[in-house]
Amino acid sequence: RKDNGYYCWLEYGKLEDVELKNIYRKWCANIVKFGDTPLIKCAVKELIIGIENMLGISPEIVSIPIEPSFITVGTLGQNPIIDKAVGENERKDIMEDGFLIKNIKTEDKDYIVVTGINDKGVLYGVFVLLRLLRMQKDIRDIRKIENPYFQMRMLNHWDNMDGSIERGYAGNSIFYKDNKFTDDTARVRDYARLLGSIGINGIVINNVNVHKYETRLITKEYLPDAKKLAEIFREYGIRIYFSINFASPIEIGGLDTADPLDEKVKKWWCDKAGEIYSYIPDFGGFLVKADSEFRPGPFTYNRNHADGANMLAAALKPFGGVVIWRCFVYNCMQDWRDYKTDRAKAAYDNFKPLDGMFDDNVILQIKNGPMDFQVREPVSPLFGGLKKTNVNLEVQITQEYTGQQKHLCYLIPMWKEVLDFDTYARGKGTTVKKIVRGSVFNNKYGGVAGVANVGDDDNWTGLQLAQSNLYGYGRLVWNPDLTSEEIAEEWVRLTFSNDKEVVDTVSDMLLKSWHIYESYTSPLGIGWMVNPHHHYGPNVDGYEYDKWGTYHRADYKAIGVDRTVKSGTGYTGQYHKEVRDMYENIDTCPQELLLFFHRIPYTYKLKSGETLIQYIYNTHFDGVEQAIKLKEQWQSIKGKVKNEIYEHVLHRLEGQIEHAKEWRDVINTYFYRKTGIGDELGRKIYD
Ligand code: GCU
Repeated sequence: RKDNGYYCWLEYGKLEDVELKNIYRKWCANIVKFGDTPLIKCAVKELIIGIENMLGISPEIVSIPIEPSFITVGTLGQNPIIDKAVGENERKDIMEDGFLIKNIKTEDKDYIVVTGINDKGVLYGVFVLLRLLRMQKDIRDIRKIENPYFQMRMLNHWDNMDGSIERGYAGNSIFYKDNKFTDDTARVRDYARLLGSIGINGIVINNVNVHKYETRLITKEYLPDAKKLAEIFREYGIRIYFSINFASPIEIGGLDTADPLDEKVKKWWCDKAGEIYSYIPDFGGFLVKADSEFRPGPFTYNRNHADGANMLAAALKPFGGVVIWRCFVYNCMQDWRDYKTDRAKAAYDNFKPLDGMFDDNVILQIKNGPMDFQVREPVSPLFGGLKKTNVNLEVQITQEYTGQQKHLCYLIPMWKEVLDFDTYARGKGTTVKKIVRGSVFNNKYGGVAGVANVGDDDNWTGLQLAQSNLYGYGRLVWNPDLTSEEIAEEWVRLTFSNDKEVVDTVSDMLLKSWHIYESYTSPLGIGWMVNPHHHYGPNVDGYEYDKWGTYHRADYKAIGVDRTVKSGTGYTGQYHKEVRDMYENIDTCPQELLLFFHRIPYTYKLKSGETLIQYIYNTHFDGVEQAIKLKEQWQSIKGKVKNEIYEHVLHRLEGQIEHAKEWRDVINTYFYRKTGIGDELGRKIYD
């Protein structure tokens, strides 16, 4: 840990409230520890760090209570002190990885119990207790039981072994440098702490695009180093996974084929799995991007995705591993002259016919939307479309299309919309979160994967405020019923302070930021008006006359893609009836997705009464005004956050304003030139 910390939610600044501090100290001076597993030790270590920093005392660690007040940690069934504190019903309510925090008062004792049925639960409970202390919550009489909502709570790193990060905006990889594993294990450990504290339990440590060196991660050249990394993460309850190259049997195995039905290939992967597990006994499994964007896959051998995934799954099965197979499969060579092909349909078209053909340790990982992490997309119809297959939801924490951690864009509200989206797959209330959790179709595995936004910048995420997306991601996959407001408030309090003005101001900035970003970028769900390749900054036609299938089809009269069954590409037909009807009908289609589903003239009147063209102008002028307000809000708390952070964020917000102006002007001018229709309010549009 750097002297100054890394300015994050584990900062554990000194508590401001003296009275509460004294109350807390009473319990915190003594920790009664039961059990000796690495995770219990880790939990105690975390308690010490937190308590020392927040309360300025060093707790004594004992194995029997000496004082009348203490905190006791340990799993159930280890010691009568803990067991007696937990009622019959409470015990039934605690699930795997869940915890109970409870204040017990007897005639002569007053103590806090943190327990769970496994030691990971205890660790999570400890982090939550520390969080409550930092937020200065009154924990007298506390009785809190929590269980994680999703079984798999994963991060996907798109790190390459040369140290670069695909779509990384916060420096280089914290895992690799120069095609080697890093020596800076202290940093990795700090990262594991961060992730453990928010309940993350799996991490894919390399990019889905598996290049030359990364292909060799599963060989003895790198496995000893991977083992060390796994040990660090294990202490915080996190299993590691690799992205693998489907062509590995050829590239590193000396075989002449990677055909999933070939016996030699099967054996090769089985042996490989055995080798990996001999280094990393709790290895999670493989993440696979196959037959997607030029990556190798089973298609080469006229086999399908199920053949490919099941072959790998069979190799991992004896060890309890899983195969996470990505559904990001589409024709990336579409010709813009081709109006029939619709990239939005691709994932469903590819995978729906295979529903039921995957083994039970295969999980299909589906991006939240049918395209690719745009600022606004409908939910992928594969959620609710697949009924006999384990599914993971993939979201992008790293802000590839949402401002690249130069713009403020708090993504929790977006993910909540996805998780709460009603697919109607089993009638009303069949939300994405229930499907992904596995409770609708009785799936064995399931959860959420977030593409990480972290690099070796001191503040982890480039823009310091972008940490809120990582924190919020973890909190949301632990409990998707938390509100965006609650999560924002927690993060601000933990990171900065409990000062009401700071909490209110920064929370408000976060909560508005997604809509602000959306308002000055591409309108009404059409997406993609970015510079090709690096995806930063406006370029309305950047992808328009190109491959990749990402078109807005703007001409001088109209814009948008007709994806209806009635007259368009038929994409809406992939949804269940209620959803299909909603999108199919221009009157019931949510306005924010209008151009995604319908092609409409610029003079079309929206529900607000504005024409489409005027709406575009209004939102783009307004977006810049809002970005300016973000800066003013930040300025209003000067002196209340560390100066260094204040200046850094201010600088980024200033950059955001300038860049928002560029977006506004490029978009407005584009449409002004196409239509010749001016702004009703006579604001400046360049011609
Ligand atoms: C996007 C992104 C790529 C990434 C791909 C994927 O297209 O721009 O960098 O590899 O998604 O998710 O596989």
